[in-house]
Amino acid sequence: MNPALNIWEKSRGLLDLIYARGLDRAPEMDCAAQGAELLAPLIGSNRPRLLDAGCAGGHFYHSLARRGLKVDYYGLDSSPQTVALAQAAFRTLGLEPRRLVLGALADLAGWKFELAAVINTLSFNPDFREPLDRILDCGVRALVIRDNFGPQTVIRWEPDGYLDEGHNHLRGYWNQWSLAETREFLASRGFQSQAVEDRRVRGQVEMVVGKPYRWSWLVAVRE
Ligand SMILES: C[S@@+](CC[C@H](N)C(=O)[O-])C[C@H]1O[C@@H](n2cnc3c(N)ncnc32)[C@H](O)[C@@H]1O
Repeated sequence: MNPALNIWEKSRGLLDLIYARGLDRAPEMDCAAQGAELLAPLIGSNRPRLLDAGCAGGHFYHSLARRGLKVDYYGLDSSPQTVALAQAAFRTLGLEPRRLVLGALADLAGWKFELAAVINTLSFNPDFREPLDRILDCGVRALVIRDNFGPQTVIRWEPDGYLDEGHNHLRGYWNQWSLAETREFLASRGFQSQAVEDRRVRGQVEMVVGKPYRWSWLVAVRE
């Protein structure tokens, strides 16, 4: 993506927070905590390779480590500035920066993972199918997804409005996915899924930069 158009790189405050999260110096996000807990029973004892899809600062690594959950962690994010900050944070902590990879989910090919966490990421894509397909093509046996799931799919292509001065004309996707359609898609790929209430919003609508979000989870396991 042309960096001039990347909404994820147009808020100094957000980039600072991402770096602080990468350093584990910001409060743990409720969703990272719940994601780690949902993954815990799926991990097993063979240190599975886990993809954190749309990893931002790589803070999900800390949520897993804090709980003693042993995975071979890789984070992928398509924002160069975000990945550079996450890598710098990992370097400072003595962790391997190569764990954070720059790239788009749509281009994910040739990687193998056993597990994936897709937290707050699909909504910002034109459709959920392509990124999900690429993740499933990596061979995952289970994944947890937190997204804006509702009774129907609603495509929103709107300005963020909360970016630094001069960038608020930039539009992005703020989509809601039909929960049933997403589950059908997962079933078509051989995954049985279970909907789980989000602990933070508990079925309520949360406004995210002025757009309605019905955060909830799917836990999907290959049949
Ligand atoms: C709202 S942030 C969520 C970050 C993190 N998972 C969390 O929960 O805090 C969305 C992130 O996903 C990344 N992203 C969105 N779509 C992506 C895609 N198709 N491929 C790779 N990264 C993507 C963005 O660059 C951004 O850093």
